[in-house]
Parts: sequence; structure tokens; C-alpha cells
Amino acid sequence: MMIRYTLALLLALFVSQMFGETTNEVSHCNYLLRENDVTDDAANRFVSKLMSKMTYEEKLGQLNLLTQSDFVTGEARNHGFETKLKQGRVGGVLNMVGVAKIREAQRVAVEETRLGIPLLFGFDVIHGYKTIFPIPLAMSASWHPEAVVDAASIATLEAASAGLNWVFSPMVDICRDGRWGRIAEGSGEDPFLGSVMARAMVRGIQGDATFSGNDKVLACMKHFALYGAAEAGLDYTKADMSRHTMYNDYFPPYRAAVEAGVASVMASFNDVEGLPATGNSWLMNDVLREQWGFGGFVVSDFTGVSEMAFHGIARSDSVAGVALCAGVDMDMVSERYVNTLKGREQLVDKACRRILLAKYRLGLFDDPYKYCDPERERQNIYKEENLEKACQMAKETFVLLKNKDRVLPLKGGERVALIGPLADSHGELLGNWCARGDWRQTPSLREALEGRLGKEKIAYAKGCNIYYDMQLNRNAYYPEIDKRSVDEMMREADSVARNADVIVVAMGETANMSGESASRSNLDMPDAQRDLLKRLATIGKPIVLVLFNGRPMSIKWEKDNLDAILDVWFGGSRAAEAIVSTLYGENNPSGKLTVTFPQTVGQEPMYYNHKTSGRPLGNAQWFSKYRVNYIDISPEPLYPFGYGLSYTDFEYGPVSLSSDSMLRGDTLRVSVRVKNTGRYDGVEIVQLYLRDVISKATRPVKELKGFERVALKAGEEREVSFPIIYDMLKYYDYNLNYVAEPGDFEVMVGRNSVDLQTLKFKLLE
Ligand code: BGC
Repeated sequence: MMIRYTLALLLALFVSQMFGETTNEVSHCNYLLRENDVTDDAANRFVSKLMSKMTYEEKLGQLNLLTQSDFVTGEARNHGFETKLKQGRVGGVLNMVGVAKIREAQRVAVEETRLGIPLLFGFDVIHGYKTIFPIPLAMSASWHPEAVVDAASIATLEAASAGLNWVFSPMVDICRDGRWGRIAEGSGEDPFLGSVMARAMVRGIQGDATFSGNDKVLACMKHFALYGAAEAGLDYTKADMSRHTMYNDYFPPYRAAVEAGVASVMASFNDVEGLPATGNSWLMNDVLREQWGFGGFVVSDFTGVSEMAFHGIARSDSVAGVALCAGVDMDMVSERYVNTLKGREQLVDKACRRILLAKYRLGLFDDPYKYCDPERERQNIYKEENLEKACQMAKETFVLLKNKDRVLPLKGGERVALIGPLADSHGELLGNWCARGDWRQTPSLREALEGRLGKEKIAYAKGCNIYYDMQLNRNAYYPEIDKRSVDEMMREADSVARNADVIVVAMGETANMSGESASRSNLDMPDAQRDLLKRLATIGKPIVLVLFNGRPMSIKWEKDNLDAILDVWFGGSRAAEAIVSTLYGENNPSGKLTVTFPQTVGQEPMYYNHKTSGRPLGNAQWFSKYRVNYIDISPEPLYPFGYGLSYTDFEYGPVSLSSDSMLRGDTLRVSVRVKNTGRYDGVEIVQLYLRDVISKATRPVKELKGFERVALKAGEEREVSFPIIYDMLKYYDYNLNYVAEPGDFEVMVGRNSVDLQTLKFKLLE
């Protein structure tokens, strides 16, 4: 072993001299060469036999993932696809959809290349393929992992029926800063909830991961790592933090996905500790593979390999070596591997093996066309039952933020004024990354309301555009820009509102204001909409804000001045129907926030599980000099993590704990009776938090450790109880040991991260 390792080291040094690569890269490579030998199972035997026939160039071809033009998800394009395919220079394709095209490309790979190796076909199926579910941030607000499994299963079945065998999902990046537009694609700020959702997504996409049928495909956990911690919420910038924070707060959902058996991982664009993730061997080899036991393959993000030249860590002709050494097996779009990797046999073999093993696992060598049945494509996509599930999921994601004087649900007889730039929009309801979602078949809120009440009962006015200066959202293709003057539109809205009993406004962000490359420096309601709201508020009629958003928003004025706020995110193909049934009380909202809403953008990054400081505000009044507080804004969030109202009321009895001390290996139980004291049946999400009071390293003021969705009929009550086990008390200490330290703990139970009852217990030596 030692001799092999030394020889390999010499070889690596020689190669680096020859090709002028950095010494850094060589030291990363040493690591890989120490990896275990290939196991001798059937899959590996098959792959070894195949690889023995492959040329170096053909192996490089397997590491090459090319984009096609059905969808555009980045700047670069790949040309000459067919020629490269026939030459065996392509291992997979992204952004090609539909059985007809995929079948033909697969045919060329299988019949017209020397070795007939089938292709992977990948696509971003983030919250649905054609039947679009709510955005992932919204789905996390359901706190309903089983429903998320179902949503991911349907999305996967549709994608698999369209010929795809690989989806670039789940996105599990923790994000604590609403300025980052991609917060929409993940499950919010909490590592525990993020891990639950990561597992649910992997299960929905991969099932039991045997891929024996053709309804499950390879999942791809992304973006590894820390992509959601982009500095100042600015997409693609560096993410800088201690390893203590990485392990405790950011890594858990990635690890959960790995433990759930995710087949592939995507490297993130950002810089982590001075190395782009794509060239970061510590992340890919030490953490992902060695510490967490990941056995699948790693793909770069879109041109992530070539972008390392812009990061300035290697010249364009040597970035490929850096990425490969760092453990990135497949090069998405930049074609650096196929074009520049020379003399890398051993590393290329490893990467190639991992990719071929994934193809073998999928069963593509037995039947390369297993996902290419046109009949299935016709039958499985956009079925009514899929749409019904999307509607049901949407209903569970809505968060009722305010409901003064129980203005909601509407009683049914009111004359309704429907106002706002999103009231008659179709496409905006689908949200960002909506794959093959079809806006033409997506009813608008106006249509759904008219469908329910009849056209004559609804008075509609657009009222304003999203912003006054449409240039303010440079990412946008706006729905329909209304050319009328601001005044004219406002006057129309005003008169419509005056003749109504209730004003329902549909406002917030457009779909493209969140998602990739959609960072915002301001989280307020866009100016034109805020001004319209101010005008409507002078009329004196109740105003219900139906809020569309892909991120937390600083809607303080709206909270202080409007009667009701229903956060509907971007709810997908059947969002409008779900909103209407919620407005009229057939659906009782039960969603709770999985991100903190700040009062103002200046509080970001803002998250509930922050550390205390040596100068906490504690019970002191704001403002207190020499304490941790701003001079110009009170310390609270606008709406805390875990917050959400219902049309009914839930009363919590006193919390009890089975013991006030715990020995290693013991389980405590914390219990509370929850009663539905209101008039509607409803679902309450009961939350459990823990705090480690004294520990060797600083700990968060509280951390979510459990939750339960409890469905209670009006008048019904139930005891909810959570186990507290020893492992729940563990954390990564200053030296990154995963330990539970004896001493005092607080256990908190309640309806959100602020409204909690607290008890104490001791972990004994
Ligand atoms: C995104 C990824 C996505 C990829 C392929 C990139 O720009 O960061 O999340 O999977 O494109 O479309």
C-alpha cells in the first residue's frame, strides 16, 4: 500500500511538472490515491470489464455533461452535440426533455458509439415537472414531510415519463438571509427541519433506490456546500464561516441527504474557506466521502469547473485538474475535462467508474430506453390527480400572518374588489424553476374567484405595475406591463374598492424576483404596490393581502395597517384554486414560517437559532446602551420562525417533563395538551426546542429538535408528547467532536419559536 501510495505521489508530481499545475492540486490528489480499492460486486465487475475496453478519451467522455437548448439555465452553450455524442465524448445531457428527443439521443449513444454506453439525462425538477407544486420554501412551510414525499414522487414520475433519469434536486442549502433569491428553492433557515425535508425529497425521487421500475430516478443533492450563506445574500459570492458553524448549522441537511442514499451531489459555485467548492478537496473528499460515506458521484454546477479561472485559483487549462483532484467527477457544460485533462488515468478511472456505476444502478445497461415510452409520457404527465395533489399541497403551505377581527375567512355574501398586479397573472403563480409548467393552463386568482362567485360578483382592477420603474427588477420579464398612467390605474382601483365590502389585494414579488441570480437589496413591498396599498387603506374597507413571495419580506407597514395577510408564496399549477378555497374557509391555513421575516432588510441575516452574546439584551428594554441591539429598530423579527395563525384557536396546557434529570442512554418525555378551542377544524404544528445552557463552546439560544402536525376538530384536544433522547443533546464542540455535555438544558414547547413554555433538566455525568 505504502509503495503504491509513494509511486502515485511521484507520478502526480511528475504530471504536475509536465502540465504546470499548482502544488496545491498535487497535495489534494494524494488524498484520492489513498482511497480504498474497488469492491468486487457484480456492478463493479461489470464496470471493470467495460472500462478495460475503454480508451482514455472515452473515459473522459463519460465525465462530460453537455447542455441542450430545450431550457436555458446558464450563459454557456455546447455546440456540435451530435458529433461529440457519436465520438463517445458525452456521458450525460441536461436540459433536453421529452421522450422523442431523449430516445433518439439515447439511440445514438447506444447504437452509434463504439461501446454503446447509455447516457444520463438530467433536468432541474425542483418543484414539479409539468404539474407544478409550490416552491420548496413553501413546501417546507407545510411541516409535512409525507406530503413532500408525495409531491416529489409525482414530480419524479412525470419527469421519468418524459425520458429523464436524473433530477437536480433536492436543493438543501440552509439560508439565513432573505436577500438571497435562491432561498426560494430550499427549506429555509433551520438545520433540523431542512434535514427532515432533505430526506423526504430524496425518498420521493429515489424511492428505495433500487430503480427496479421506471418511476424513480437519480436524485442530486445540491449545492455542496454553503451556497445559501452567500455574503450579503448576493448570489455566487463567497460563504465564510467557522467549521463549528458549518458542522452544526449548515451541514446537517447535506448529510441527511447522503444518509438517505442520494445518488449524486452537485458542487456549489461559491468559495469556501479560500477555495471554490468545485476545487475543494476537503469538502468533497474528506467531509462528503470520508466522513459521511457518500458513495455516488459528484457533478460540478453549470460551468463551475471553468469558473475556477475567474475565481483566480488556476489557469483555464488547468482548472480541470483542480476539480478532478478535488473529487468532482463530472463537468457540467464547461468541457474542461474532455478538452484539457491529460495524463490523469487513475483519477479519471475513479470518476468514470462512479458515473458508470450510477448508470448500472439505474439499469440503463439492461434497458437504455426504460424511461423512453411515449405512451407513458402521454398518460402520466399533468394528470388531474397530480393537479389535485398540487392543489392540496398548496393549501398546506399557506401561512396566515395576520387576521384582525377574523376578517378571514370571507363569509360568502360580500362584494369583493380584487386588486393588484398579481391578481390576474397566470405564470407568476408557478414560481421560479418551474420546469415545463404551463402558464396557459394555470388559472389566475381572478379566474378562480370568478369561477366560484360568478363574474358579476367580482370587481377587478390591476391598480399598478410591480414597480414604478420597471428597471428596478432587472431580472424580470414582467407579466403584462400596463401602459396606463399611475394615476389612472390608481383611480380605477380606488373606485372599484369603494363599491366593495372587502378588498382582496394580490401583491408581492413576481416569480423571477427570487431564484437564481435574483438577489435583492430591499425586502419591502415594491414601491408602486406599497403606494397603492396606502391609498386603499384610506378608504376604510377591510383589506386582505394575498402575498406572493419567494423569500421573507419586510412588510412592516402592511402588518401595521392591513387587516389580514395570507402568505401564499408561489403555489404552483393549482395555486389559485387553493387560495380561493382558503379565503372562503374550506381550507383552514396551517403553514408556519421556516424563515424569519425581518422588520427591515438591515436586520439580515436574521434567524431564530442565533447565539447569545456577552451582552445580551435579555429582559432589558430596547434601546439599552452597551447591549446587543440596534439604535433604530427593536430587536424582534417581524414574524418569527415557526409562526403562523389559523382560523381556529389552539390552547396549550402546561408543559410537563417526565424527569428533571437524564442519564446517558435515558429518554425523557415532554408533553403538552393542545386543544382546539375555536369554531373550525384545524391543524396545529407543535414545536419542540432545546437549549444547552452551559457548554464548552457557545450554543444557540434555542434549536428546533422536533415537531408534530396535529389535526384537531373544533373542540377536540389531544396530548402531544416528544421523546428527548441523548443524541438530541449532541453538538460539534470547538474541536468538532460530536458530544453531549453534562449540565443544564432547557426544553421549550409551543406554537412558534417565540411563544414557548420552558422547563429545565440536567444531563448527569
Ligand atoms: C444552478 C443549478 C442547476 C444547474 C443546471 C445552475 O445554474 O445553480 O442549481 O441545477 O444550473 O440547470
